[in-house]
Amino acid sequence: MTVDEVRERAGSLEQEFKDALARVENTAGLEEVRVRFIARKGAVPALFDELRSIPPEGKKEAGRILNGLRMRLQSAFDERKEMLAAGRARDSSIDLTLPGRTLTPGHLHPITQMLREVRRIFASLGFSVADGPEVEDDYHNFEALNFPPDHPARDMQDTFFIRDTVLLRTHTSPVQIRVMETTEPPIRVIMPGRVYRNEAISARSYCLFHQVEGLAVDRGITFAELKGTLATFARQLYGNDLRYRFRASFFPFTEPSAEMDISCFLCGGKGCRMCKGTGWLEILGCGMVDPNVFTAVGYDPEEYTGYAFGMGIERMAILLYGIEDIRMYFENDLRLLEQF
Ligand code: PHE
Repeated sequence: MTVDEVRERAGSLEQEFKDALARVENTAGLEEVRVRFIARKGAVPALFDELRSIPPEGKKEAGRILNGLRMRLQSAFDERKEMLAAGRARDSSIDLTLPGRTLTPGHLHPITQMLREVRRIFASLGFSVADGPEVEDDYHNFEALNFPPDHPARDMQDTFFIRDTVLLRTHTSPVQIRVMETTEPPIRVIMPGRVYRNEAISARSYCLFHQVEGLAVDRGITFAELKGTLATFARQLYGNDLRYRFRASFFPFTEPSAEMDISCFLCGGKGCRMCKGTGWLEILGCGMVDPNVFTAVGYDPEEYTGYAFGMGIERMAILLYGIEDIRMYFENDLRLLEQF
């Protein structure tokens, strides 16, 4: 073979190699190219073998040509390998300067966040969590809670009935009954969940909302513990400099009953739109468990006392976030949800 022939063979081999390399899309394809050209039994070493047939005066030049060829092929090969490793099989079709796609992480609904916060605070006060059915019977939702049949107090809660005595629970208080039916005191438990009311839908009321119920039963529990627990809770949620008051109220299942107000954090108590000029915001209902309720679940009202409370989670959220239309919590409008 002459030097010119070597030069020509090297040239066409290089072209062939470049074409093959350009078609490579994965490491398997890359390995094929290596075996075909560079590996010990490949085309390049085969060409080196031809050096033997070159006349002595041409050997040096032919060797230079082949060494150059081998180096260029090896470095083109290495570059391709690196590119593949970086996941850039077709270098020219990918613009590495483009900004990446933004991943919008999901997050918890504001009501879920509020529920978790309430749970966290009561857990730190030693309360555990219980659950109950949303489809309830009249007995647990009303009767055992000391609502006598046909008592007007039932009208306080506009009920969705499924059948005569089967209904969607109007509050989480039936879970109190279920807990006491199945456990013995001492009890310290909160009971979060959905409740339903057949009310005209407006900015202030929705057919569905969330409550967190609380119940503590033991020997010697007093109204002072109720006040202390709820004051600690309210301060943790709304801030330490909060003032509060308890107003006498009525619930069939507690006696005495009260509603808890906190000082309006928008105006600091001076009176504003949020607190309707009163300086106070109502946050929950509460009271000492009525002896009739203890009797219904088989506890001795002479032995045990206890307190219960119930709060609306949407109401807490409305106050904390200043979102005043309760319907917004159920519309799932991303413009709202993305702010949480
Ligand atoms: N269940 C009452 C309501 O929905 C709230 C409440 C719970 C009041 C526990 C007192 C004690 O209005």
